[in-house]
Parts: sequence; C-alpha cells; structure tokens
Amino acid sequence: PRDIDGDLTEILIEETEIRARLAEMSRQIEADYAGKDLLLVGVLKGAVMVMADLARELVHPVTMDWMAVSSYGSGTQSSGVVRILKDLDTDLHGRHVLIVEDIIDSGLTLSWLMANLKSRGPASLEICALLRKPDAARVEIDVKYLGFDIPNQFVVGYGLDYAEKYRNLRSVGVLAPHVYSTGE
Ligand code: PRP
Ligand code: MN
Ligand code: MG
Repeated sequence: PRDIDGDLTEILIEETEIRARLAEMSRQIEADYAGKDLLLVGVLKGAVMVMADLARELVHPVTMDWMAVSSYGSGTQSSGVVRILKDLDTDLHGRHVLIVEDIIDSGLTLSWLMANLKSRGPASLEICALLRKPDAARVEIDVKYLGFDIPNQFVVGYGLDYAEKYRNLRSVGVLAPHVYSTGE
C-alpha cells in the first residue's frame, strides 16, 4: 500500500512543532493548576493523540476520562448535530476539568460540550485544543490553551480523520481535494 502522506497536498504542522507547542502549553497548565487535582477529559476519537502526548508532557499528576461525541459523521462538513456515543465514567462535581480537543472547527461540538459539562457542577471547566480554524467559527469558543490557528482547509492527521482514515499521520496536513471529491 502507498504511503498515506501521498493523499496530502501540504504538511501544515510537523510532528516536532506539535510536540514543542504541547510542551509550552503543558508548562502553562502546570502553573495554572498548581496544587490542584486535574481531570483531563479527552473527546474521542480525534483527541486521542493530543491527550496522549499532552498528558505525558505534563509532570502534573492528572486523571483522564473520555467522552465520545460526534458531529461530522463521515462527511467534510459539520452537521451541528452532536450525539453522545460514550459518556464519562467520572462524576465532575467539584472537579477541575480540562477538556482536551484536537480541533475547534465551527465550534459547535465544544459549545454543546461546555454547556453539558458545566451543568454537572465542576469546580472549573476549561478547554485545551491543539488546532482552531478562526474562519470556520459559527459560535465563539473561549479556549484557554490553544496550539495553533490554521486556515479553513480540510486537515487530517494527528487524530483528525477523513472517513476514519489518516488519524495515524504523525503531522497535520491538508487533504488533497481528489480524495474527498471523487472518493477513491
Ligand atoms: C471533529 C473534531 C472535533 C469536532 C470539531 O470530531 O475532532 O471534535 O469535529 O468540529 P466543530 O468545531 O465544527 O464541532 P468528529 O465529530 O469528526 O468526531 P471524531 O473526533 O471521532 O473524528
Ligand atoms: Mn472529535
Ligand atoms: Mg472526525
């Protein structure tokens, strides 16, 4: 089989840049949560890589839980419909919660998730996202820890998929239009 890099027109963010930025964000998080128990909530499936690398970069002790929501289905456009596919195992009441996401696109997923988790009575609730597309925003999201702002292009890799593929790319790249316009 050919290299999955062949379906990209461009690498946007290299693996080394991602790791360096996550290290900077981790120092910020450690300072902000000094002396506090921190619960990282990863949003499946896209946030798996960010969660794994961020959590290991942190020297701060954390617990991790996962929620599975989906808004995209297999298409390239956000439907705005958010479904819970798997809920948290953890009671959020009184906890310091940091949501970990791969990307803020329209913002609809996180807007819905913030409202949902806030209603569970956490002591604090913030967002950490590796990527954000400012030009795609449909709702304003208050993100406390942000990796990179990127152009409004269809990006894959480092957890981000197109029809469940490309998540295992080590870098973030722009998917070639021929892949999603004509299928394969
Ligand atoms: C993607 C991405 C974010 C969300 C961002 O998840 O991982 O969770 O969309 O889009 P939005 O800001 O427009 O809501 P997706 O629903 O594709 O599920 P996945 O993480 O399993 O790929
Ligand atoms: Mn996701
Ligand atoms: Mg997806």
